[in-house]
Amino acid sequence: MSTHPPGPPLRHLPGLLRKLAVDRLGMMRDAAALSDAVRVRMGPKKLYVFNRPDYAKHVLADNAANYHKGIGLVESRAVLGDGLLTSEGDLWRTQRRTVQPAFRPARVAAQAHAVAHEAARLSELLRQRATAAPHTPVDVLADVTSLTLGVLGRTLMETPLNAHAGIAHAFEAIQDQAMFDMVTQSLVPAWLPLPTRRRFTRARRDLTRTVTALVADRAARITPGSAPDDAFARMILAARAHPDPARGHRLLQEELVTLLLAGHETTASTLGWTLLLLARHPRIRATVREEARAVLAGGRLPDADDLHKLTYTTQVVQEAMRLYPPVWILPRVAQAPDTVGGFTVPAGADVLISPYTLHRHPDLWDDPERFDPRRFDAAQSTHRPRYAYIPFGAGPRFCVGSALGMMEAVFVTALLTRDLELTVDPRHRASPEPMMSLRMGGGLPMTIRPVT
Ligand code: HEM
Repeated sequence: MSTHPPGPPLRHLPGLLRKLAVDRLGMMRDAAALSDAVRVRMGPKKLYVFNRPDYAKHVLADNAANYHKGIGLVESRAVLGDGLLTSEGDLWRTQRRTVQPAFRPARVAAQAHAVAHEAARLSELLRQRATAAPHTPVDVLADVTSLTLGVLGRTLMETPLNAHAGIAHAFEAIQDQAMFDMVTQSLVPAWLPLPTRRRFTRARRDLTRTVTALVADRAARITPGSAPDDAFARMILAARAHPDPARGHRLLQEELVTLLLAGHETTASTLGWTLLLLARHPRIRATVREEARAVLAGGRLPDADDLHKLTYTTQVVQEAMRLYPPVWILPRVAQAPDTVGGFTVPAGADVLISPYTLHRHPDLWDDPERFDPRRFDAAQSTHRPRYAYIPFGAGPRFCVGSALGMMEAVFVTALLTRDLELTVDPRHRASPEPMMSLRMGGGLPMTIRPVT
């Protein structure tokens, strides 16, 4: 017998749909408040929203083969094409196998030095800014975004990326268009000269130019005798071996764009929210500083072993990602009919799992809105269902860069907190903007004071 999850009362539907356009997080919160399984009809589409760890486990891991990437990501295909985030089936498996060795724990640990250096460079840059113009707020979000691009370039591409600030702006314009397509269900024709579309076209052109130059530069440095093992070089070598050179080249470009997007914006978002939460919680900030001073005494830079010693800082980053998961939604489309937690899901249905609402589920988290890093103590973590906390996703599509992203976030948080006092005007309102990642609307204007 088929069982449908409850839907919102009909009179709530126009409000819910309006929210999809203007307040996507609000829509997810409303659905979660209604029930752990909700079905919403949107024109010809049926949207299933599941908000329980066991439901998430079923869709993302146990029966992952039945689910392809869904709304939002599908619209991003115009740019990400068949890169690792959006590809499916055998192509995805081949691509994942190609880059996976570049993310092995030992290789990531060997990158600790490069990550620490980028973090120290950012700390020094902020210190200089504070000295040049004390009391003048600085948008630290722009600086951490440039840092994450720099780390990506050094660790996975052997290419300096800090100079390519345009990449971050291009991705903003592209995501605006993807979200527009999502809420209008791609019904607005592409030839209409709307401002979002014009910015998107320009951004795509700029990004293509940048990516073409990056490929040419890295490819020229791969000589017959060299055996590079960074992700970018692996992708280039795979493209060279592709039986259809034109297709191989196109895939390479799409994979690079994907790596650039997936690898920098998520970590920048994590860092932005972590620094904001620390600025708002002086006692927690003081504990992070104490730990950083003890572990990284004498102004020392962190190495791979320090990661396991910076336990409280790690908990702070984990808690920031609980409240503000950079990937706030995991959209899927059912390929064949399925049953999730006893509810029937037809083929073709859109299924949404939201880390944002799961991470704030009142049955799973005590006082969920409170920022409390101690939730991630070993003692407290063991009592929680595994799929209650999924900032890096789950199952076969689990984030390939999670270890690198975590190391980066922990090192930067520890170093900046050790060396600088970063504060935010209490009147500043940072609003979460649910794009492909959970962006920080309004930036992060911080006042910086060096700590002596
Ligand atoms: C704190 C930082 C990060 C967070 C929170 C994060 C989160 C995620 C999540 C939730 C997914 C799964 C998406 C889905 O199932 O639909 C994902 C996939 C992915 N992430 Fe990350 N990510 C982070 C850092 C990174 C870094 C540093 C890289 C490096 C390049 C990266 C590359 C990727 C790629 C390529 C995928 C697609 C994997 C696949 O489908 O096989 N991520 N990420």
